[in-house]
Parts: sequence; C-alpha cells; structure tokens
Amino acid sequence: MSSSEGNRKGPSVTLHMVSSLDGFIAKKDNSVSWLDSAGSVYEAGVSISEEEAAAFVKAIDCYVLGSRTYEHALELGWPYGDTPAVVVSSRKWPPARNSVEFYSGDLKTLVDVKLAPRYRNIWLVGGAMLCRRFLELGLVDEIILTIAPVLLGEGLRLFGGSPTEERWNLKNVVAYRNGFVELSYSAPTA
Ligand SMILES: NC(=O)c1ccc[n+]([C@@H]2O[C@H](COP(=O)([O-])OP(=O)(O)OC[C@H]3O[C@@H](n4cnc5c(N)ncnc54)[C@H](OP(=O)(O)O)[C@@H]3O)[C@@H](O)[C@H]2O)c1
Repeated sequence: MSSSEGNRKGPSVTLHMVSSLDGFIAKKDNSVSWLDSAGSVYEAGVSISEEEAAAFVKAIDCYVLGSRTYEHALELGWPYGDTPAVVVSSRKWPPARNSVEFYSGDLKTLVDVKLAPRYRNIWLVGGAMLCRRFLELGLVDEIILTIAPVLLGEGLRLFGGSPTEERWNLKNVVAYRNGFVELSYSAPTA
C-alpha cells in the first residue's frame, strides 16, 4: 500500500524514467547520447519553454535514487540542482553536496517515516533496480514514462522484469515535437 493511499492530498511518489522504444533505460556502455533528440520533428507535437520546464522541476520537493544512478549522475554532472536528494545505498560514501543524504534500510520506512512528513512531491528517478523494488512494495503512486524514439537493441531493462501483473490507469499522454512521448499512469486502486 502506498503512503498516500486513501489520502490523495498526502505526499505522492512519482516514478520517472526515460525508456527506449524497446524497453531499455541505459546502454551497456552507459553512454547517454541516445537521450538527445536528433530525430525528425513530429509536427503535431508540443514543445515546452525553458520557463515551463523550470516551473515543473521547481515543484519537485525531493528526488530518490539508487546508488548506481547516483554514481552516473555525478559522472554526467549533477542534474538535480539544490533540491533534496536521497541516495539509497548500503555503502559508505564520502561527504557529498549539502542537498544529498544517504539512506540504508527498509524502503517503506524511508517513504512513510523519513520522506512523507517532509515532502509532498517525491520523485523516484531510477535506476531499474530501485524502481523495481519500489513497485514490488507498492510504494509508487504515479509512473511517468518518457519513451525516446530509438531502438537500442540491448542494455539495462526498464524495471528489470516486474514480478506481478498489475493494471495501471492511464492519466495523460503528451507527444513532443522531438518525437519523445510522455505517458502518465496512476497506481491501481484496490
Ligand atoms: N533512462 C533513465 O531514465 C534512467 C534513470 C535512472 C538511471 N538510469 C541508468 O540506470 C543505471 C543504474 O540503474 P541500476 O538498476 O543498475 O541501479 P540503481 O537502481 O540506480 O541502484 C541500485 C543500487 O541501489 C542500492 N540499493 C539499496 N537498497 C536497495 C533496495 N532495497 N533495492 C534496490 N537497490 C537498493 C544498491 O546499492 P549499494 O550496493 O550501494 O547498496 C543497489 O546496487 C545507470 O546506467 C543509470 O544511468 C537511467
């Protein structure tokens, strides 16, 4: 059961990932050029201004990420600004940015005890392993999946093979001029 079930005004956990058309979230060599939009323009699609994108990101209160995603984010250049971020890891890490804290332990406790009292709009941003665990535990309220117009052939599978069949509720679809499509789903209701 998610932390916000039965209380729609409570905090919510949104899982956000970008997937290739064939269901991968990372290439084997971890390169990310496939995320750049070099494809053809979809004329009927929308584009968002930098101001709109900034306002959207500003509404996110906290990011949660697995340690491998954290390592990759550090390599690429920290994309989460000064927004609080919680890195889930059992390892000891050197001191990081002020906005980053590390968490080891039960994920339901993380959401219900540590995050829910402090944050409303919580974004789980990967990777596959951590997202799969959040889904298994029923800790996700919303999935926003952005599909990139590219086949990768191989790589790291989105969610790494979810264990149970579950029907989510489609809430919104946005097609962008760069050929990316954003699908939003809410969690199944009991
Ligand atoms: N396309 C996208 O939208 C997107 C988004 C995010 C990431 N990525 C890519 O995905 C890759 C990383 O994903 P990943 O699946 O390999 O790793 P991950 O989910 O980012 O991190 C997994 C790590 O989290 C820690 N962890 C601690 N408790 C856990 C728990 N209960 N369940 C699961 N993990 C727990 C473990 O680290 P310790 O060993 O430290 O304990 C585990 O090895 C990177 O290449 C990244 O760039 C892509």
